[in-house]
Amino acid sequence: MKVTVVGAGNVGATCADVLIHRQIADEIVLLDIKEGVAEGKSLDMLQTATLLGFGTKITPSTNDYTKTANSDIVVITSGVPRKPGMTREELIGINAGIVKTVTENVIKHSPKAIIVMIANPMDTMTYLALKSSGLPKHQIIGMGGILDSARFKTYLSMALDSPQYDIEGVVIGGHGDTTMIPLTRFATYKGVPVAQFLNADQSKQVAADTMVGGATLTKLLGTSAWYAPGAAAALLVESIARDQKRQFPCCVFLEGEYGQKDICLGVPVIVGKNGWEKIIDYKLNAEEQEAFNKSADAVRSMNDVLATL
Ligand code: APR
Repeated sequence: MKVTVVGAGNVGATCADVLIHRQIADEIVLLDIKEGVAEGKSLDMLQTATLLGFGTKITPSTNDYTKTANSDIVVITSGVPRKPGMTREELIGINAGIVKTVTENVIKHSPKAIIVMIANPMDTMTYLALKSSGLPKHQIIGMGGILDSARFKTYLSMALDSPQYDIEGVVIGGHGDTTMIPLTRFATYKGVPVAQFLNADQSKQVAADTMVGGATLTKLLGTSAWYAPGAAAALLVESIARDQKRQFPCCVFLEGEYGQKDICLGVPVIVGKNGWEKIIDYKLNAEEQEAFNKSADAVRSMNDVLATL
């Protein structure tokens, strides 16, 4: 199993670090455009091998895509992160150029790879990668919903004063502060709907905190977060690499599912060796479907910006 991570910055390096600790790949290629970054981070990680006990080969690359050849999975994190006060959407102009070039280079050397998109605005970057590459839809997956769901579960656990592993929660829709949809109706504490333990105001607060989860961290850190995004990307890679068929909310191309088409948006999918394999229908109620449609409208208008670049 060969995994390439493009962009050896905060998110890319964290993702690679989690992948090597969990021994998910035989080889990880860490590629960055900036001279020395991939080499330095790879060497540093390699020197944790005897400390943490792993045997993964780590290959650094400064923009040399021949080293990525025949990758099974490619994670694209290359792009500019958010600064405080910025929305994910404001990154579109810069990141679209980077993502298009990177995707073309990646598929030249690894046409069968499953591509995991992290760069923001993620829903639009996933759509761009799909349209510009011409790859089969199952090969392109945007990672946003796993991260947003993790944040949802963190805020639920704080409100419930309970450990996170006893909590289930899913966020669908776009990966934007106003486009994501925490599905409170489906959230459970040990299988029991959280509505039995939280009042309406508490639930609303959890959903609101989840939606600005990324912006909260950007304000605190001065740049966007990396531990949870990196770990979320690694979890997605693991389900593909080990053909686990786990169910995650991921950004995938819709052709009528959830009432939308010609758009990449977050819905629950099964993830295995073929990429995203199946969409799971949660049977949204009217209010949830309306929120999903609004989310799709917002993402679609962002996708329209691509044509003007
Ligand atoms: N090819 C390869 N690497 C590139 C390219 C490119 N064309 N352009 C930029 N990079 C690299 C940068 O040199 C940098 O090392 O991508 C890396 C990005 O790392 P950071 O600046 O630390 O950003 P990070 O926090 O990792 O976020 C990356 O993920 O969560 C999203 O919004 C975030 O879009 C951003 C992306």
